[in-house]
Amino acid sequence: MAQRRRRRVALGNNKGGVGKTGTTINLAASLAEAGRRVLVVDFDPQANASRRLGRPFRPDSPTVTASEIVRSGEPGAAADAIVPCDWEGVYALRIDVIPSRFDLENRISEAAVMHARQRLRSALEGVDDEYDVTLMDCPPSLGHLTQLVLAAADWGITLVEPEYDGVEGATRFRDFMVDPANLAELANPELQFLAAVPSMVDTRLGAHAHHLSTLPGIFGPDCVWDPIPARSVVKDAADSALPLSAMGSRAAEARAAFDATAARLWKEITA
Ligand SMILES: Nc1ncnc2c1ncn2[C@@H]1O[C@H](COP(=O)(O)OP(=O)(O)OP(=O)(O)O)[C@@H](O)[C@H]1O
Ligand SMILES: [Mg+2]
Repeated sequence: MAQRRRRRVALGNNKGGVGKTGTTINLAASLAEAGRRVLVVDFDPQANASRRLGRPFRPDSPTVTASEIVRSGEPGAAADAIVPCDWEGVYALRIDVIPSRFDLENRISEAAVMHARQRLRSALEGVDDEYDVTLMDCPPSLGHLTQLVLAAADWGITLVEPEYDGVEGATRFRDFMVDPANLAELANPELQFLAAVPSMVDTRLGAHAHHLSTLPGIFGPDCVWDPIPARSVVKDAADSALPLSAMGSRAAEARAAFDATAARLWKEITA
């Protein structure tokens, strides 16, 4: 069997609200605009990525979600959950989603079952080979759900809000995913830390400027990518479940930042 390409990227941070989901969906948009086919795996029971991509869980017309594919854990089970995103145009053509729902929380209590951490990896087997990139949005935790993602991923990116707690949460995510003992437990020795991406950056804040300057020392200069600025239009687009391109010219600066990050991501994972 041909070797699977290394195109699965986990986006995580132990801290909440640092831009993991916002960056995941906007990177998906930038990659799609550049002609790439993207699979977004929403692996947070909050299901924010699913809603923002127009695929909230509807109890009156339930569909298969990340929770069911992990409960099954059968090789290839993830195929049953894939839906196109509900954005228009190239996004609908090129961005697919494995949506989430709150029930994903119930997978945590199964963590002690044999091979429990391999369930997402197994469910994705043979399913995402046709995509150029698989982006996996983690919950703000290093617990079982994030471990399921890390067991399936090839690369890890942490979003760093340049504040004390944001840097600490990002550092814990990095330290967790490069620890050889953890990699052995995850049965994923090839997993590689790819980048610390400063997110929600406001350069007018002294604290942000200070913490940005510490990042190369913590993560290594080559692993610190250009920052994503904090812009209200990112929040507005997320609230309206629309791509940034639907927000007109005021989204230009934010889109340029996500485009640059997507281009760097593509370059690094295809090198
Ligand atoms: N670059 C940005 N500029 C401004 N607002 C942003 C940006 N990125 C994300 N946001 C907004 O900030 C809030 C938190 O972001 P987001 O939901 O992406 O964080 P998260 O790390 O995924 O949170 P959680 O840990 O709860 O999953 C959201 O309202 C989101 O729309
Ligand atoms: Mg999130």
